Amino acid sequence: MGFDPPHVAELSPPQRVLMGPGPTSLPPAVLQALIAPITGHKDPFFLHVMDETAELLRYLFQTSNEASLSLPGTGGAGMEAAIANLIQPGDTAVVCVNGLFGARMAEIARRHGADVVQVTAPWGKPIDPDDLRKALAGRKARVVTTVHGETSTGVTQPMEELGQIAGDQGAFLVVDVVATIGGMPVIPHAWNSAICYGASQKCISAPPGVSPITVNLETMDYIRNRATPVPCWYLDLGEHRNYWFAKERIYHHTAPVPLIYALHEALRLIAEEGIEARWARHALHNRAFVAGLEAMDLELFADPNYRMTTLVSINVPNGVDEARVRGELLREYGIEISGGLGPYAGRMWRVGIMGHSASHNNVVLLLSALERLLARQGYGSPTGAGVAAADAEYSAAAAEYSAAAAQAAVA
Ligand SMILES: Cc1ncc(COP(=O)(O)O)c(C=O)c1O
Repeated sequence: MGFDPPHVAELSPPQRVLMGPGPTSLPPAVLQALIAPITGHKDPFFLHVMDETAELLRYLFQTSNEASLSLPGTGGAGMEAAIANLIQPGDTAVVCVNGLFGARMAEIARRHGADVVQVTAPWGKPIDPDDLRKALAGRKARVVTTVHGETSTGVTQPMEELGQIAGDQGAFLVVDVVATIGGMPVIPHAWNSAICYGASQKCISAPPGVSPITVNLETMDYIRNRATPVPCWYLDLGEHRNYWFAKERIYHHTAPVPLIYALHEALRLIAEEGIEARWARHALHNRAFVAGLEAMDLELFADPNYRMTTLVSINVPNGVDEARVRGELLREYGIEISGGLGPYAGRMWRVGIMGHSASHNNVVLLLSALERLLARQGYGSPTGAGVAAADAEYSAAAAEYSAAAAQAAVA
């Protein structure tokens, strides 16, 4: 009777070099946290870990918002929570769409009963602030949403201008910082942002499964006093706030204890590195990688004035089989990168310069592997030009650093 037990081999994951747009590889302290003894989710030890994690999240987001916490679930949980908590049936949501994730925000807002007005820009371009201004004129929008770093294109936004415009119209601004938080400057108060949410698995370099989010005081007041209850009980940010910060730590869900330990350690490492130093590290490895690509005559997709430092989008040269290159990178070098999404499937590579994966070793390895694999398909020849150009960037940065250190020493 019953089912025979399946015979399954012990899990033995391969070691990969993760250079896609997340997940990234994990620092040893984060891996170690995943195998630490588990406690209950209301154990005094764990509550203390939550308190420290909230403090570290405030540093990550450079904010004094009390409600800085992490939701169970991936970045999509943050996206759904931000929209569901602000929109009430019949509200207008002005949604900036210049890639796949902006379009996803529009879909979620629609599903929550919003009247959605889209402000669009072509993939690869930022949102034009004038277009947002026009969309808001003569409308009482409850919410404006935008994606700080569009992972589908590698484009960032003129955030301060967009934030100013949304603020002038009294709309709550929701900003998706999934692909930028921990890697590029994210300053919620300078953007007038009501809610910013991210994800653990990109520039933070924790495992996927939790979504850091910060909500300002005025927005939290609105959520707790809104006329209709938040339609999605599990993602009600008032309930999450009570578990994280109310004196009684009111039970809402069984926290994913090992994931919070891992997030704590990832955030502690960010504080140790210093957030500005971390942004500078991402910018340096981006510059070196881009210099290498340009030396190989590869073209970038994103508008040069609005490129993310944490994600590089590359046009696949004519005659090159996009998927074959990715497959060979994985099989022969253990390197993961991603392809294009939506209309750019088969025409773009997307490389993450993110968190623990943003390193000199990875940049040089990927450039040399790419050069060889492209030559195999008749594109260029493996002369080492890519690595030489990256090295030149690294040497220039090292010389600048020594000059600055010498100046500081004599000052
Ligand atoms: C900008 C952006 N927003 C939202 C998401 C969704 O995050 P997740 O896949 O963790 O649910 C992603 C995922 O890549 C993203 O890049």
